[in-house]
Amino acid sequence: MFLKRGSSFPILLSLLPLAMSFTPSKRIFAITGCTGRTGGEVLKELVKQRQLANADWEIRALVRNRRGHRADWMDQLPGVKVVLADMKDRKALRDALRGCTEAFLVCGNTAKEGEQTANEENFIECAKEEGVKYLVKAGTADPIYGTDAPVAYGREHTHIEGFLRSSGVPFTVLHPCFYMQNHLIDISTITKERCIYDCTRASKAGWIDIRDVAECAVRLLIMPEEERQQHVGATYEITGPELLDFQLIAKVYSEVLDTPISVRDMTPREWAHAHFGNPDAAVADMMQIWRDGHFATMTTDEGLLKVLQPHRTFRQWVQENAGLYKGGGKHE
Ligand SMILES: NC(=O)c1ccc[n+]([C@@H]2O[C@H](COP(=O)([O-])OP(=O)(O)OC[C@H]3O[C@@H](n4cnc5c(N)ncnc54)[C@H](OP(=O)(O)O)[C@@H]3O)[C@@H](O)[C@H]2O)c1
Repeated sequence: MFLKRGSSFPILLSLLPLAMSFTPSKRIFAITGCTGRTGGEVLKELVKQRQLANADWEIRALVRNRRGHRADWMDQLPGVKVVLADMKDRKALRDALRGCTEAFLVCGNTAKEGEQTANEENFIECAKEEGVKYLVKAGTADPIYGTDAPVAYGREHTHIEGFLRSSGVPFTVLHPCFYMQNHLIDISTITKERCIYDCTRASKAGWIDIRDVAECAVRLLIMPEEERQQHVGATYEITGPELLDFQLIAKVYSEVLDTPISVRDMTPREWAHAHFGNPDAAVADMMQIWRDGHFATMTTDEGLLKVLQPHRTFRQWVQENAGLYKGGGKHE
C-alpha cells in the first residue's frame, strides 16, 4: 500500500499509541524463595513450561543473597534472571517486580513471630504498587489456620492471607499438606536404627510432593486470563493422592528399601526433641494437631482438581530417593 505524503502518515502516527495499548505485554514472572524447596521447584517447573510453550517469558528468580553459590544453578536456566531482593527491602522488591505480570510468593517460617508476616506483606504491597496482575501464594496446611492457632506460623499465614484479600491484588492461595520431602528427616533414623519415629498414634495425613504443589502453582500462573478468573480469590487445600499413617509409611520404606523398618512411638515433645534437638513448642504443637486426627482429609476441592490432580505417591518418592535412605548420595 502506498501512502500519500502528508495525508495518512499523521493519522497512522496518531493511531500508534492506541495500537500499542492493545499489544499484549510480554509476560514477566517473579518467583520468590528460589533458594528454598517450594520456590526452587516452582522455578524449575516454570522453566519447563516455558520451553514446552516455546514462549519468550522472562522469569525473575528472586533470592535474598547468593551466599554459598546457592543461586548459581539458576544462571544456566533459559529465560531466567536472578534478582537480589530481600523481602525486608521494599526498594529492592519494587525494582524486582517492575513490569511483572505474575508472581509466586513463598517465604520460609521464621523463629521471630511477625517476621514472615512483615516480609510477605511487603511483597504484596510492592506487587500492588507495581501493578502485578496476579499472584499465587503458598500458605500452610488447612488444620493449622486461625488467628488463635497454637502454631505461630499458622497465625502468620492467617494474617497474611487476610492482608492479601484486602489488598486488591488478584490472587489464589494454596494450602499444601505436609511435604513428602520432610521425610528426609527419616534418613538418620532409618540408616542408624532401622526405624522411623511417630508421635501421631497412627493418624493419617495427605502428604504431598512439593513438585505437585509447584505444578499446580505454575498451571495457575501461566493460565490464560479468562480461564484463570474462576480461580481468582480462591483458597485451595492441596493434598497428595493418598492418606498415610506412619505404619503405612514404614511399610513402603520396608518394601522399597527391601529391609524391615519399624515404627517407634513417642509423644509430640519427645518427637520434636529427637528430630530437632530441642522440644520445639511449634513442632510439638503441630504434631499434637496431627495426633488429634485433624490432618486426615484429602482435598475434594473441585476448583483445585480442575487445575491439577496431585499424582505423585509416597512410594514413588521413596523409589526416586532410595539411595539416600541406604546411606548414599546427597539430596539436591
Ligand atoms: N514443610 C511443609 O511440610 C510445609 C507444608 C505446607 C506449607 N509450608 C509452608 O511453606 C513455606 C516454606 O517453604 P519451603 O519449605 O520452600 O521453605 P524453605 O525451603 O525454607 O525456603 C524458604 C525460602 O524463603 C526465603 N526467604 C526467607 N526469608 C526471606 C527474606 N527476608 N527475603 C527473601 N527471601 C526469603 C529463603 O531464602 P534463603 O535461602 O536466603 O533463606 C528460601 O528461599 C512456609 O511458609 C510454610 O509454612 C510448608
